[in-house]
Amino acid sequence: MAFTTTQTDAQAIMALEARHVVHSYARAPFVLTHGEGVYLYDSDGKRYLDMVAGIAVNALGHGDPELAAAIAQQATRMIHVSNLYHTAPHAELAAKLCGLSFADRVFFNNSGSEANETAIKFARKLARTRGIGKKSDSGKTQIVAFTDAFHGRTMGALAATPREKYQAPFRPLMPDVVVAPFNDLEAAARLVWPGTCAVIVEPVQGEGGIHAATPEFLQLLRERCDRFEAALIFDEVQCGVGRTGTLWAYEAAGVTPDIMTLAKPLAGGLPIGAALVTEQVASVIEPGDHGSTFAGGPLVTTAAQVVLNRISQPDFLAHVREVGNYLKERLEELNSPLIREVRGRGLMLGLELTISAQDVVQAGWSHGLLLVNAGPNVVRLVPPLILEKSHVDELIDKLQPILSGLQTA
Ligand SMILES: Cc1ncc(COP(=O)(O)O)c(C=O)c1O
Repeated sequence: MAFTTTQTDAQAIMALEARHVVHSYARAPFVLTHGEGVYLYDSDGKRYLDMVAGIAVNALGHGDPELAAAIAQQATRMIHVSNLYHTAPHAELAAKLCGLSFADRVFFNNSGSEANETAIKFARKLARTRGIGKKSDSGKTQIVAFTDAFHGRTMGALAATPREKYQAPFRPLMPDVVVAPFNDLEAAARLVWPGTCAVIVEPVQGEGGIHAATPEFLQLLRERCDRFEAALIFDEVQCGVGRTGTLWAYEAAGVTPDIMTLAKPLAGGLPIGAALVTEQVASVIEPGDHGSTFAGGPLVTTAAQVVLNRISQPDFLAHVREVGNYLKERLEELNSPLIREVRGRGLMLGLELTISAQDVVQAGWSHGLLLVNAGPNVVRLVPPLILEKSHVDELIDKLQPILSGLQTA
C-alpha cells in the first residue's frame, strides 16, 4: 500500500492545523501516515519504534489483520443504530467482560473520562439507597480520590484529578471530593467514613508517574468501603486489559471493586469506555438514569471482542509478563546517572529521571523512537502488548545514546 504524503504536504498539514485547530495539544513536528505492528511511519517514510501505543491504546499494535478485517466487515453491515435497539456485538461483549471479571453487568461509554462519570453517577445513586434513613438527601455524597490520580478532564472526573494545572482554570468543580495521600493506609482509614459515597483509585497510576497501589492499600480500601457501605471504584482505564501482565490490574492485590472503569485499549484504538459493575450497583439504575448516543455501538463492540479474545489468552498475558520483565531488566542495566528509578509492572513501566522527561521524548524523534512522559520527570513505556524482546533491544540501543547525549548537554 502506498502512502504518498510529501514533505510539502506535511508542512501544509501542520500549518493548516496550527491555523484551524484549538491549541490544546503540543504535537510532535511530523505527520504520521501509517503503522505496522510496533512501528509507525511519517510522511518522509521515516520509521519510529512506537513505545506509546496511542497512550496505552493500540494493544495489538498497528494494522492488525484480524482486527482490521472484523472492523471492515462490521462497517459494511451496520456501524450505528443507537441504544434504542438490541444488537449482538453489544450483548456479546458485555457477556465476555462479565465472564472474565468480577462484574455482573456493563454500561458502555465512549472514553475513560465518560466511564468515570458513569461510575460517579452510579455510586451517587447507590449511596442514596444506603444513607442514614435512606433518604435522597442522605448526605452520603463524598468521593475520596488520591494524590497523583488521573481520572479524566470532564467536570466530575476532573474534580477527582487533583492537579492544580488541570483544575484551576475550570473551578468551580464538582463539590464533595476529598483527596488522600496515595498508598497511605492511615490517612485512607481516617477519610473513609459514613459520609463516603465512593472511593476512586487507579490500581496502577498512569499519568501520575506509574505508581502501583500496594495490595495492603487496596485491601484496606475494600474493608473501609464494606464497613461504611461506600462503592469502591477501580479506574483501570490505563492499567486494565492485560497492560500489567494480568487481564485486570486488581488481580495482583486479590481485591475486587464494586465498579471498574475501562477504556483505552479495549477496542484496539476505536473509542470505547465501559463501567463494569456488580449486580448490587446495577440494581439501583433505572431506564433514563444515564445514557449515550454512540456508546456500545456495533462497530466498537465488534472490535473490542477481537481485542479481548486475544488479550485474555493465557499465552498472550504470559508474553506481556515475559517481555515486560525483560524490558525492566534492560532499563535497569542502562546504568545512566540520569536514571533515578525503573518501576511498574508488565508493559506499563516508568523511568524516573533527574532531568525533564520531555527532553528525552523530543530527543527520541530523531532516533526514530516515540515515547511519552508521565509527569515532569518520568518517561512512560506503554508500548503495544505485542512487543517482542528484539524490539526491547532496539529501544535500548536508541535510549543509550539519547541519555548519554543529554548527560553531557
Ligand atoms: C487512569 C485514567 N483514567 C481516565 C482517563 C481519561 O480517559 P480519556 O482520555 O479516554 O477520557 C485516563 C487517560 O489518560 C487515564 O489514564
